[in-house]
Amino acid sequence: MIAGAPAAGKGTQCAKIVDKFGLVHVSVGDLLRAEVERGTEAGKKAQQYMDQGDLVPNEVVVEMVKNRLSQGDVKEHGWLLDGYPRSASQAEAIEKEGIRPDLFILIDVPDEHLIERIVGRRLDPETGTIYHLKFKPPPQEVTDRLIQRSDDTEEKARNRLKTHNKNVDAVVSTYDDVLVSVDGTRSMDEVFESIDGLLTAMVEKHELATVGQ
Ligand code: AP5
Repeated sequence: MIAGAPAAGKGTQCAKIVDKFGLVHVSVGDLLRAEVERGTEAGKKAQQYMDQGDLVPNEVVVEMVKNRLSQGDVKEHGWLLDGYPRSASQAEAIEKEGIRPDLFILIDVPDEHLIERIVGRRLDPETGTIYHLKFKPPPQEVTDRLIQRSDDTEEKARNRLKTHNKNVDAVVSTYDDVLVSVDGTRSMDEVFESIDGLLTAMVEKHELATVGQ
């Protein structure tokens, strides 16, 4: 599981993790945005909460996550859950299903960095690549097609941050035994170096345990 405040760098690091470790990236924000785009009932309900920077109700989110985690690709390659759980009740809902991470990575970035990261973020809808106007400038040839998320305004970002700060302690305390906090104020590559080290050690531990069986 990967967690952190809005714009802490979860999506950025997940892309790097998927490249190296081949896990299936399950981003709850992305799943919700896809529902909104398709105009489904769940999407219509979710949109009003996302627009405000509030948590979408559990009745929409919990089943969506459980369904996604039960699919074949996830069972085959393993999951990398991004943006879930975001409250004690969401953690409880998957604990009940026996779903628990081997590692809970918290990307730690102080509030004062986050607004700049949010308002400068741009997305390439064709490739899914996340850019930043200052920290990861997009190449000239893609600039015309870049989009900005509708919740990436300063005002909405402040509420997303408030929602995160209100809930983070309850979530983190559920995973005390597998929690590792990573300093997310460093460059994207340096942050990944730490995460890579953690995941590599975890994979080696699993391999040793399998050999020992
Ligand atoms: P979601 O899409 O998950 O948004 P979020 O948590 O606010 O996180 P972001 O996607 O904004 O940021 P990120 O951490 O992935 O950062 P990124 O890598 O892009 O959720 C959206 C909404 O959906 C929520 O508000 C809620 O309404 C709803 N929702 C989602 N999950 C839910 C749940 N479980 N229950 C209920 N509702 C839910 O990086 C950000 C920018 O910074 C980029 O431009 C990037 O290039 C740059 N950057 C990244 N790393 C660095 C670095 N090290 N240095 C400098 N710049 C960096």
